Amino acid sequence: MTKKLKLVVSTGAGISAESGISTFRDADGLWENYPVMDVASADGFARNPVLVHNFYNERRQALAAVAPNNAHLLLHKLEDYFDVYVITQNVDDLHERAGSSKILHLHGELAKLRALDNESLTFKVDYKTKSTPETVIDGHRVRPHIVFFQEAVPMFEPAVELVRQADIFVIIGTSLVVYPAAALLNYVRAGVPVYYIDPKPSRVPQGVTVIRKTATEGMAELYDLLLKRYGNE
Ligand code: APR
Repeated sequence: MTKKLKLVVSTGAGISAESGISTFRDADGLWENYPVMDVASADGFARNPVLVHNFYNERRQALAAVAPNNAHLLLHKLEDYFDVYVITQNVDDLHERAGSSKILHLHGELAKLRALDNESLTFKVDYKTKSTPETVIDGHRVRPHIVFFQEAVPMFEPAVELVRQADIFVIIGTSLVVYPAAALLNYVRAGVPVYYIDPKPSRVPQGVTVIRKTATEGMAELYDLLLKRYGNE
C-alpha cells in the first residue's frame, strides 16, 4: 500500500455559499446586516458583549437549516485517494457534517463556546444554545469560540506546518484578503501544484491554476483532474 499524497485544502466562506451561508465581502462590509467590526472584533465584543453573544447565537441556530453541499462532500470523498487535511476560515460545521476527518479551524467554531479565563478550554454546544455574558459552564464564564479581528490566530502555526508538508494545495472560496490566513499560500514548497477554485478570484497568485467556477462545479472538475493525474499513485 503506497503512502497517500498529502492534499491540503484551504477553504473560505465561498465553499459554504451554495449551502446558503452568506459570504463576507459580497455583502459590502455587512455580515447578516451587522457592521463586521461591531460583531467580529475584540473592540466590538468589549463594547457590547450582549450583541456579540446574540449575533453568534443566531449564526449557530442557522446551522440547523443548512447542509453540506457537493463541494464539502467531494472533499470527504477524496480521502479515499489522498491524505486530506482541511484548513478552514469558516466557523460553520459543514466540513464536519460532510465527513471530513482532519479539519483545522483558523477562526474558531460556531458550535463551541470557550472559557473566558482559558482560551484552550472549549465546550461543544447544540445549535439552540443561547449564550450570554452571564453564561457559566463548569464554573467558567464563556464567550463564542470565534477568533475576532484584533485577536491572535493560535491555529495559524499548525496550519503552516500542514501547508509545508502538502504535495498538492487547493484553495476554495476565499478572497485571500484576510491575514494571516491569506499568507498560507506562501508556505507551499516550490514545485507543489496549487489550484484555486473561485468564480471571481480577487487576485491570481503567480503559478496558481485557477478554476473560475463555483465550489460545487469547480470541485467536480478538480476531483476528476486529481484522480486522473494522481489517483493511482
Ligand atoms: N463558490 C466558490 N467561491 C465563491 C462562491 C461560490 N459559490 N461565491 C462566492 N465565492 C467567493 C468570492 O468570490 C470570494 O472570493 O468566495 C470568496 C469569499 O470571500 P470572503 O467573503 O472575503 O470570505 P473569506 O475569504 O472566507 O473571509 C475571510 O474574513 O470576515 C472574516 O473571519 C472572517 O473567515 C472570514 C475571513
